[in-house]
Amino acid sequence: MNGLWKPGGREPFAAFACDDATLEALRSAATETALPPEKCVRGGLRSAVQTLAVAGSPAILVVDLSECTDPLNEISALEEVCEPGTAVIALGRVNDVRLYRQLIASGIHDYLLKPLAGAQLAEALAQARAALSAPRQGEPENAARNHLATAVIGTRGGVGASTIATSLGWLFAEEHKRRTALLDLDVHFGTAALGFDLEPGRGLIDAIADPGRIDGLFLERAMTRAGDNLAILSAEAPLGKSLGNDGRAFAQLQEEFRQAFEATILDLPRAMLVEQPQVLTQLQSVVLVTELTLASARDAIRILSWLKAHAPDAQPIVALNKAQAGTGEIGRSDFEASIEHAIDHTIPYDAKVAVNAAKLGQTLAEASAATKTGTALRSLASAVAGTTEDDGAEPVKDAGRASPLGRFDWKALLPRKEQAAAKAAPVA
Ligand SMILES: Nc1ncnc2c1ncn2[C@@H]1O[C@H](COP(=O)(O)OP(=O)(O)O)[C@@H](O)[C@H]1O
Ligand SMILES: [Mg+2]
Repeated sequence: MNGLWKPGGREPFAAFACDDATLEALRSAATETALPPEKCVRGGLRSAVQTLAVAGSPAILVVDLSECTDPLNEISALEEVCEPGTAVIALGRVNDVRLYRQLIASGIHDYLLKPLAGAQLAEALAQARAALSAPRQGEPENAARNHLATAVIGTRGGVGASTIATSLGWLFAEEHKRRTALLDLDVHFGTAALGFDLEPGRGLIDAIADPGRIDGLFLERAMTRAGDNLAILSAEAPLGKSLGNDGRAFAQLQEEFRQAFEATILDLPRAMLVEQPQVLTQLQSVVLVTELTLASARDAIRILSWLKAHAPDAQPIVALNKAQAGTGEIGRSDFEASIEHAIDHTIPYDAKVAVNAAKLGQTLAEASAATKTGTALRSLASAVAGTTEDDGAEPVKDAGRASPLGRFDWKALLPRKEQAAAKAAPVA
């Protein structure tokens, strides 16, 4: 078995399906949520009980009850073989809300009705996984519990997302004194290592090629050190071929980071939202870096709306970067109205500091310490740190800026084609 996610040293997952269609749906949902699809087998409740009696119970168990005549009674056989803390997702054909309630009351995590619809199963798996990873009341303090995970996404290329990701990494590590991992998910064109004047190495490419080998030891060898508290995983994958990345490596890396570090920062190319949406499932915040252009407004709208639907637990923090008075295509308040979200942080444009940072192989945060840009980056880092799991504090926002929601007809800003799309899928 590859060394994937093993909460409490257990196998992550096992699934039992009574028919081929369900088995197929389970395998693809497992793949989608970075759980091992080979753990999905044919069989009903009885096979599950027999298997678990020998193999021990996994963290997440999916069991198909369609062959049970008395699901509620029969499922109690699972209790004997399931260790506490296993999230059991039951599947069945009986559409009865009383049965559903009784199953939930008996400790079943979820009950899904067959035939399984679309993304329902993947969502249930992702949700069970998130529930198991969430801190429980009364648990001792540990690194995983206080882990801070954020992603930085640019509305457009060149807005400075990578600059902000490396800066946050440096600030968390050097000034907040958190053990920090920076994961650059742009495996072909990433600049995280470059930002620190380092070679990216092969670590990330090896991880993608064989997610099963990712563990603490692998990370120690594969990650590039950029300071006492900061490690980077980044790549310059050859342009000749696709890496055939199914996302399992990223999920596994995030899981290992939760154990080994106190903060994870993802430098996330926009396209990943489409290709690997599961990378956003365990984040406390997403920093959306933008500039004041029409194209950025359109994509900020779309990305914020996507986040609301797919990563509702991640708090969006909008950061205007390269801010220069009087230069935006769109005025600031019109922009805020159009995206229906306040600009939470404003990072001034400072060409001199940026050039200097590049020359010295430093992050913008390090090179800009005594400037307005440096102050703004530090305020952003504090806000992101304020979203840590155990903290619950609201992030610091730009003083005195209320959200201008509803004051402006934002659709008027958009090109015609987008107006139709926006009408079809309102943001609010
Ligand atoms: N606040 C800033 N002031 C001046 N230059 C900046 C600022 N932020 C980023 N840059 C510069 O913008 C360029 C693009 O930044 P980068 O982080 O690579 O963008 P992205 O990752 O969004 O494509 C870099 O040359 C960087 O130095
Ligand atoms: Mg970038």
